[in-house]
Amino acid sequence: MKRISIIGAGRVGLVVAACFAKMGNKITVVDIDEDKIAEINSRVSPVAEPGLDEILNQSEIEVTSDYGKVMDSEAIFICVNTPAKKDGSISLENIVAATVQIGNILKSGGGYPLITIKSTVVPGTSEELILPILESSGKRAGQDFGFCVSPEFLRGGKGIEDFMNSARIIIGEHDTKSGDMLCDLCQVFKAPIMRTDLRTAEMIKYASNIFLAAKVSFINEIGNICKLLGIDVYEVARGMGFDDRIGAKFLNAGLGFGGPCLPKDLKALIARAKEIGYEPRLLEQVLSLNERQTLKVLELLKRHIPVRGSTVGLLGLAFKPGTDDISDSMAVTIAATLTEEGAKIKAYDPLAMHNFKKLFPHVECSTPEEVLSCDAVIIATEWEEFNRLDYKGKIVIDGRRVPKAREARVYEGICW
Ligand code: UGA
Repeated sequence: MKRISIIGAGRVGLVVAACFAKMGNKITVVDIDEDKIAEINSRVSPVAEPGLDEILNQSEIEVTSDYGKVMDSEAIFICVNTPAKKDGSISLENIVAATVQIGNILKSGGGYPLITIKSTVVPGTSEELILPILESSGKRAGQDFGFCVSPEFLRGGKGIEDFMNSARIIIGEHDTKSGDMLCDLCQVFKAPIMRTDLRTAEMIKYASNIFLAAKVSFINEIGNICKLLGIDVYEVARGMGFDDRIGAKFLNAGLGFGGPCLPKDLKALIARAKEIGYEPRLLEQVLSLNERQTLKVLELLKRHIPVRGSTVGLLGLAFKPGTDDISDSMAVTIAATLTEEGAKIKAYDPLAMHNFKKLFPHVECSTPEEVLSCDAVIIATEWEEFNRLDYKGKIVIDGRRVPKAREARVYEGICW
């Protein structure tokens, strides 16, 4: 049993806390948000991650705003968020604030704690920004404390599953002893471990997410061409997927990628590349294709109804099924554009309506049946239950390939 502290009680921090707790470690979670702390202490997870509530209820996890509780930890994982700024670069305010606190603990504390960055930070950040703050305590990495970067690869809604069965654990190490310490902590998860340096580990995270984003934009572009040629892009993707150099996953053409990670990471690496004088053309195209894809759904809609004065139904608001998260969700852009162009909207989502309502108080959140009674319907998320609705007689623009929607009177797939 090790004493482990997790800084940041967001999705990543709580999943990491829960999984290390499940492995028998003593966990302290620190966050500055008192409301969130109260929520977790009543054993309700503030994020919708299957399995999380259960582990929180069964485990001895202390959640607090008191950084003093980190004092005797053998390992500290920094998991605070690094939100996007307006120019696409990431805001390091939270991680700097957390690091300053950990630096104070280093100053007065003893032992040889291992500090690991799990937050997603652009390559170079740990060495150039985080480490100097920690070392301003007077203590040295590799002499007084360990220092690693170990990015997370947790899909929203599958966090616990992904952490417990990781495809790989990436350990970016400041020095061999630091890497050995993290290996020792992580080997219980039985995943392949790759050891490398700090900035390479940071880049592996970005390159992985951006590769997935590129795969989606690639198949969407092929899909757009296929639609014009009368070819089914899903058949094309199936044919491509047999080649294991390509792989069958992440080739579902449609509205594009959203969520709290892929768009943000793509924009952040674009900003970082430009900062160091490189023009990342492919990455910029991946992003602009994705933005164009969302607007394409509206072009298709306009072929069937005039937008101004119509009532448009929006099925699916979350950025993907299985989550209530609407960050960078396609439905948000669609709703904003429809509103701007003078349409009324009725929307439905099994989990995300409360979040959507905060952003669009004027949008009527309703039942699927009510949404289907609109002049036309756009499907923006492929929730399974949408494949059981009655689309007969309706006009449907499908952004996510819901098979049953094909029974509509007018059916238009975004790129099929
Ligand atoms: C993503 C990565 O998949 C995780 O590995 C990573 O750890 C995580 O970001 C993170 O950085 O924390 P997530 O944002 O939960 O996970 O979502 P994905 O499952 O990757 O889906 C992203 C978007 O791509 C969704 O809007 C989805 O609808 C879209 N998508 C996905 C497609 O349009 N087509 C596909 O074939 C696959």
